[in-house]
Amino acid sequence: MSSQRYITMGEQKGRRSWAEPWKIKMVEPISMISRSEREKAIQEAGYNTFLLRSKDVYIDLLTDSGTSAMSDRQWAGMMLGDEAYAGSVNFYNLEKAIQEIYGYEYIVPTHQGRGAEHLISHAEIRKGQYVPGNMYFTTTRLHQELAGGIFVDVIIDEAHDPYHIDPFKGNIDLRKVENLVKEKGAENIAYISLAGTVNMAGGQPVSMANVKALRKLCDQHGLKLYLDATRMVENSLFIQLSESGYKKKKVAEILKEFCDYTDGAWMSGKKDHLVNIGGWVAVRDKNLADRLRNAVVVYEGLHTYGGMAGRDMEAMAIGIRESVEDDHIKSRVGQVLYLGELLVNWGIPIVRPVGGHAIFLDARAFYPHIPQDQFPAQVLASELYMDSGIRSMERGVVSAGRDPQTGDHRYPKLELTRLAIPRRVYTEAHMDVIAESVKMVYEDRKNIKGFKMVYEPEYLRFFQARFERL
Ligand code: F0G
Repeated sequence: MSSQRYITMGEQKGRRSWAEPWKIKMVEPISMISRSEREKAIQEAGYNTFLLRSKDVYIDLLTDSGTSAMSDRQWAGMMLGDEAYAGSVNFYNLEKAIQEIYGYEYIVPTHQGRGAEHLISHAEIRKGQYVPGNMYFTTTRLHQELAGGIFVDVIIDEAHDPYHIDPFKGNIDLRKVENLVKEKGAENIAYISLAGTVNMAGGQPVSMANVKALRKLCDQHGLKLYLDATRMVENSLFIQLSESGYKKKKVAEILKEFCDYTDGAWMSGKKDHLVNIGGWVAVRDKNLADRLRNAVVVYEGLHTYGGMAGRDMEAMAIGIRESVEDDHIKSRVGQVLYLGELLVNWGIPIVRPVGGHAIFLDARAFYPHIPQDQFPAQVLASELYMDSGIRSMERGVVSAGRDPQTGDHRYPKLELTRLAIPRRVYTEAHMDVIAESVKMVYEDRKNIKGFKMVYEPEYLRFFQARFERL
């Protein structure tokens, strides 16, 4: 185990010690299969970590989505599930938690984040309208496109540079939005799609100053501002750590203030909310709320469960309150930064500053000899699995998919392999093992070959694509 007890909370800030504000009551055994078994497993999975069986995985960093450990309170809440078809008591508990913590008035539950993305995109985008956003997210952009929208990336340029150190690399470049308004007209912009801690940029936060300025700009042009609140609690911690004027504020206060500048939000509850399933969309406008409540019964379920069981809504209501406790979120993000610091100290090329939910390895720097159309980040995820049974995910050209107009691959500047850290699941010793395996794979980077894609599904291809070694 490492003797390092300190983590860097934001690379330009000081240091503080931390420990998890919980102790372990129940454990789930994990084990590692042999190297030859792993080689067979990844080959059978078409070199796609999404197609591995979890029993063949040692440390699972595929995603931080739905993989959190629930607290004893949340498990107790599961026993209070009111499984009535309509008007479940748990829905009202959930509604109250969201109203109090996020501040939106009207709440529509969904089975998970993409259900919420579907509803808001369907309700608020007319065919041919533009949807400016701070970098794409896979499911978000797809739902915007399926609703007839055209996504436009308006994140600051620095976000596309893995090594540019800026505490708020998730910010929107206001000039890009203004130019779009000038060029296309405000009436041709559906809304601004703002995500907290931008996933594809490496979990990079948005500053309070940026959302304030955006609100002003939206008011000037009569635009709406909707928030992807999926990891907004993590974003709020970064504001507390790095933005002047917020050091003494609680994360919960910062979160509420941030949401106050927006017209509504959608949420994948599987992340910040510390549950295994669920989501919601929430707005301030009654008319829009009515349209969302009407659509939810078509696609998800009745407006008082939206695809969730009563017990899941109760666990989420409790998880929401736990998630904004300062101790919790500091240890959650602290663990990610701890792993990041180990890797940076060993000279491993990762996206900087380290974000809130994951470490992103720079696959271009691992394999400069593998061209992007031979999928270096996919290769890196396979190599890491073969080395140690650690499962990660490609976040590069495969995830970016094809341009709907031209049909060509979209070539993102960032070609990354993501190690997402589940919440309250792994220990510091696991982080050390992960870092050691990444180091091993980095040292062995020279003779590694690229892949060709041999099966490509139409939508969100990264989930199911298959590859062969060249
Ligand atoms: N928005 C963001 C920023 C996300 O990261 C995700 C999911 C979603 C929306 C969609 O939510 O999965 O509940 O339907 N991200 C997962 C990940 C899949 O691994 O990053 P969902």
